[in-house]
Amino acid sequence: MKTTISIIKADVGSYCGHQLPHPNLLRIAKSELEEAKKAGILIDYYVANCGDDIDLIMTHDKGDANAKVHKVAWDAFVAATAEAKKLKLYGAGQDLLSDAFSGNVKGLGPGSAEMTFEERKSEPVVCFLMDKTDPGAFNLPVYKMFADPFTNAGLVIDPNMHGGFVFEVYDIEEHKRVLLHTPTELYDLLALIGSTSRYVIKRVFPGKGNKVPETEPAACVSTDKLFQIAGEYVGKDDPVAMARGQSGLPSVGELVEPYAFPHLVSGWMRGSHVGPILPCSMKDAIPTRFDGPPRIVALGFQLCEGKLIGPNDIFADIAYDHARSKALKIADYMRRHGPFQPHRLPPGDMEYTSMPKVMEKLKGRFEALK
Ligand code: F6R
Ligand code: MG
Ligand code: MG
Repeated sequence: MKTTISIIKADVGSYCGHQLPHPNLLRIAKSELEEAKKAGILIDYYVANCGDDIDLIMTHDKGDANAKVHKVAWDAFVAATAEAKKLKLYGAGQDLLSDAFSGNVKGLGPGSAEMTFEERKSEPVVCFLMDKTDPGAFNLPVYKMFADPFTNAGLVIDPNMHGGFVFEVYDIEEHKRVLLHTPTELYDLLALIGSTSRYVIKRVFPGKGNKVPETEPAACVSTDKLFQIAGEYVGKDDPVAMARGQSGLPSVGELVEPYAFPHLVSGWMRGSHVGPILPCSMKDAIPTRFDGPPRIVALGFQLCEGKLIGPNDIFADIAYDHARSKALKIADYMRRHGPFQPHRLPPGDMEYTSMPKVMEKLKGRFEALK
């Protein structure tokens, strides 16, 4: 039997401001998913949150992009939105961009990452949940997990990984994709994914030395960009990802090693600022200072015939204390730049924020240089 793991996420309202979903919303989402489990649509589920995003982690046997499964998530968000409106929560229903569900959450606001595979004898999976940043934030850590021998010791000492990995990269402006094999095309891969606002890693497959993945995916990232759907700044692209570990794939420790370095990501206040990503436990995933700094939570599960055994809240570990304290120092340093680059995003990326409204106001005031 093939198992599918789907993470579908949305921000449908939070308190106070853009911090946390109210416990009532999480309760409602859980009861909707429990009904779907009873109805045989889901095998199992776990309702998590990172900051103001509700992350529905669901397992089933229906494959990627299944209409029934997506409808379960959509209905859970619609029900949570009704409560968010009742409580006048901030941004109630903000990520539901349509009144009607049409078979798939794609293009309707919520983000999704899904993988379907034959469960191995033992199947560890790590779910990564981010808040206050965008899908490009996963480029650096996912690259390190699967292609950097200084992060992933298995690339060097486990012959099962010597076939390398195939990265599926999306060009989110041109709506195209390319498959690149590492290590043979490592420089080409980096040439693209170093531009985090345009090229994003969608999936990673174990490689067989060629570019056509003949294998089942090892990792998947949600790449949904809301401004492209809504045509204007809605900006809540906060992404999720998942990766399988062990036995010829990166170990769980290798999957989470990249986050010992709190790299700089785009997002934070008003989706307009560069700041460090702070690895933390789910209970500490409450963005406060300057609506941030951006957070990442990692939940580790074992799959057992689709059942989710766990989670282990991985970044609760004291081993991430140094990364956290470094992230806080970087946050202080970046904040001192105020509205200046490189704390503020470059002009091209500001196009997708509320900045064009300011520019509109000044439009008639610009004079040609003599
Ligand atoms: C970032 C985010 C917040 C808001 C900010 C302003 O992704 O959600 O930083 O952008 O709090 O929100 P509004 O414009 O709704 O007052
Ligand atoms: Mg919000
Ligand atoms: Mg959010």
